[in-house]
Amino acid sequence: MSASASGPAPHVPEKTRLGILLSGRGSNFLAIARAIAAGQLANVEIGLVLSNVAGAPGLAAAHELGLATACLVSRGRPRAEHDADVITCLRQHRVDLVCLAGYMRLLSADFIAAFPDRILNIHPSLLPAFPGLDAQMQAFDYGCTVAGCTVHFVDEHLDHGVIVLQRTVPVLDHDDAHTLAARILEQEHLAYPEAIARVVSGDYRIEARRYIPIPRP
Ligand code: GRF
Repeated sequence: MSASASGPAPHVPEKTRLGILLSGRGSNFLAIARAIAAGQLANVEIGLVLSNVAGAPGLAAAHELGLATACLVSRGRPRAEHDADVITCLRQHRVDLVCLAGYMRLLSADFIAAFPDRILNIHPSLLPAFPGLDAQMQAFDYGCTVAGCTVHFVDEHLDHGVIVLQRTVPVLDHDDAHTLAARILEQEHLAYPEAIARVVSGDYRIEARRYIPIPRP
């Protein structure tokens, strides 16, 4: 019993626990961590940061922040076997929402089924344009005048699931692919925390691939 003399303890709502999956530098992970620290994602905490690459700088950064980390190297392992281990690890850390943040590995159908509508990804283009690798360079080389980034739910197809939000970035006359990528990344760092807030709020419905916010009364 946790009742005090003045009555029962107030109910503290459980926080949504994020499982961040990354393979590299982890700047999107750090943007999410900063948003949480700044109180922008009040009902969210990071339950686990997991990498499939040993020595990923993002994993070291998570360790320095005192977060729970795991490294499950995927190289040379069958996808189903590796994914099963990742799912187990996410469950052990009671992860509610999986956030891919530069996780350079396709997920198996079993993985997606294990977290239905609970896996997000960020991609540095305005999908459905330029899925796959080097999206910023693809947009630049194509001659786009507007580029951007997309946060979307993950389904069984590459960079394809329902879009939660997109942010646009103009391509400037003096840009090259690197300066454009840097400005897209700035927008990614704003987009991912905002998308997480939207999904965690639960105030939306999905209809014919459209994410539709439901205004609070
Ligand atoms: C980002 O551009 C993201 O959109 C893409 O991979 C990159 C990861 O960068 N999926 P970082 O590791 O978050 O810095």
